[in-house]
This record gives sequence, C-alpha cells and structure tokens, in this order.
Amino acid sequence: MKKRILSGLQPTGQLHLGNYAGAIRQFVDMQGEYEIFVFVASYHALTSTRDPEALRENIQQVVIDYLAFGLDPKQANIYLQHDVPQVTELAWLLSCVCPKHMMDKATSYKDKTAKGLAASIGLYTYPILQAADILSVDPDLVPVGEDQIQHIEITRDIAQKFNHQYGEVFKVPAHRVRTDAGVLPGIDGEKMSKSYGNTIDPFLPEKKLRKLINKIVTDSTPMEDAKNPDTCTVYKIFKALAGVEDQRTIDLAARYRGSGMGYGEAKKSLAELVLDHFGPARQKREQLIADPGYVQKILADGAAAAREKVSDVTSRARKAVGL
Ligand code: TYM
Repeated sequence: MKKRILSGLQPTGQLHLGNYAGAIRQFVDMQGEYEIFVFVASYHALTSTRDPEALRENIQQVVIDYLAFGLDPKQANIYLQHDVPQVTELAWLLSCVCPKHMMDKATSYKDKTAKGLAASIGLYTYPILQAADILSVDPDLVPVGEDQIQHIEITRDIAQKFNHQYGEVFKVPAHRVRTDAGVLPGIDGEKMSKSYGNTIDPFLPEKKLRKLINKIVTDSTPMEDAKNPDTCTVYKIFKALAGVEDQRTIDLAARYRGSGMGYGEAKKSLAELVLDHFGPARQKREQLIADPGYVQKILADGAAAAREKVSDVTSRARKAVGL
C-alpha cells in the first residue's frame, strides 16, 4: 500500500517562490509514489485575515496555483479545510490533552504578534488546529518548509500524549523537508514571507518579474572582484530552483568566483531560470483561471475523499474519549 502525505498552505496572499521551493515542489515530486492529501488552510487564515472578500479570492488563487504548479487531481486529493469541518472537532479533542506550556513554547505566535498580528486565542492555539489537520488523515509524512518543523514536532507530541491517555488512536507522522531549499530568502535577504512584503511571485507578468528580480539586495563588491555565491540571495534562489548539482548552478557559482561578473548579470540569469522553470505553470494558470467550473469539481471530489478519511479518524477519537 502507498504511504500517505498531507500538507497545506494558508490562503493569505499570492503564493511565492518560498512556498514552491519549500513545500509545493515536494507535493508535486511525490505524486505517483504516495497517496496525497493537500488542502487550503482556510480556517488558519482567519488568524490573520479579516477581509471576507480577500479571503474568498485568496482561497481560489491557492487552488489554481496548486494545479498550475503541477498537482494532478487524479493523483492528489485537493480540498478546502472548511469543507471538512470535523477537523475542528478533532482540534478540540486534542486541545483537551495538550498542555498549555506546549503552546507557550511555539515560536510562530511570538513572531506573528511581534509583527503586529492581533493576539487572538485562535492564533495562540493555531498549532493544535494544525495538529488536527495532520492527524485527521493518518499520514506517514508531512512535507513542509523548514519553518514548519516545530509545528510537526508539536503534532507528534500531542498525538503521543493522546495515545498515551487513550490508546493507539493516532498515527504519529514525520516531517519531510527539502534540505537543498532551506528557508528561501526574499528580495531583502530575510526569509521570503508574505508578511515581510519581500516575495517573488513566479506568475507576475514577465516585465514586472524581471524588475522585481533586479531589486534583490546584493552587497557592494565591485564588478571586477570575485564574489561569494553562498552569501548572495540571487545565487541562493537560483540554487534552490535549479538544484545544487545542476550544470547551470555550477556554472553560475564559477562565474561568481571568477572576476568580471556583476550582480546584474546574475539577476538576469535568475530571471531567465524563473521564466523557463515556470513557463508551463504560467500557461496552465491562464487556462485554469478561464475555467472556474473545473476547479470547483476538483474541490468537490477532494472534499469527498477527505471527509471519508477524516470521518474514520474522528470516530476513532470520539470513541476513545468516551463519546
Ligand atoms: P504557510 O502558508 O506559511 O507556508 C506554506 C508552506 O510554504 C513553506 N514556506 C517556505 N519554505 C521555504 N522558504 C520559505 N521562505 C518559505 N515560506 C513558506 C512553509 O514551510 C509551508 O510548508 N501552518 C502552515 C499551514 C498549515 C499546514 C497544516 C502545513 C496548516 N495546517 C498542516 C502542513 C500541514 C503555514 O502557515 O504555512
């Protein structure tokens, strides 16, 4: 039997190269070999979005982007979190065994409130909802970017606590990260993140995309001097997309270490790579935008498959606690 994976993204704005390199690319690469559950974390987005119209729009965009990036609905169950509301029941059952100190330790609440997000209870207990998302389909692996590892560890801890109390109800999953992607930097060199406003959207029109890539912050090493690729954001993004062993990456690193290559040239190489890498995805996205009925059908099928699995797991958990 195939092993199963589950993962999701928050619909809080346009997806970016970090989401792709850290997470979505893994889902796409794992198709065929694994049974796949990928969802849109709509309940999670309520911890930061208070604009209903924007939320609706963003949810739709994430699904279109998943499909454009290469998720195949014949091989992956794609669904919206709020189409499977038993997940919130599961979150409650988990929250009753989750010690408060586990949430106190979670870094995302501290990071997000430090950035000005409202300090709601939803934001505070968000890792429990994430644990419910994960445990609700009995996955073996959870492919994510490095910044999510703590949440998967919390999920494991909560599952083990529950199992210790009530017997073996939940399968305890592991995370999976692409080590060559790491945490992808944004145009300012910080972690690429919607909330930092430093993202690169691979679906931008070509001219805007080139302009944005030209804005990537680099150091002031003069054109004629040798440069260190490993500390340069342009190279880091290039390497994450093309792969460390790709000839184009090896050639670019050599050009950095030689003399005479300015950062403008490296940025041009990156823009070409992005346009080349996402050429098919950019085309597919246009077709998907023109066919909303197709997207709705995929979501209905995905939700039906997810509900079936989540119902099983939720019944198991209810029974175990005495309900
Ligand atoms: P979110 O929406 O912030 O990010 C979605 C995925 O993209 C990865 N990612 C990155 N990877 C590398 N470099 C970056 N700069 C970068 N930025 C984002 C994230 O690691 C993530 O894998 N809590 C989750 C959503 C979620 C979830 C889940 C994930 C809810 N329930 C269950 C997995 C399983 C989040 O906020 O991801």
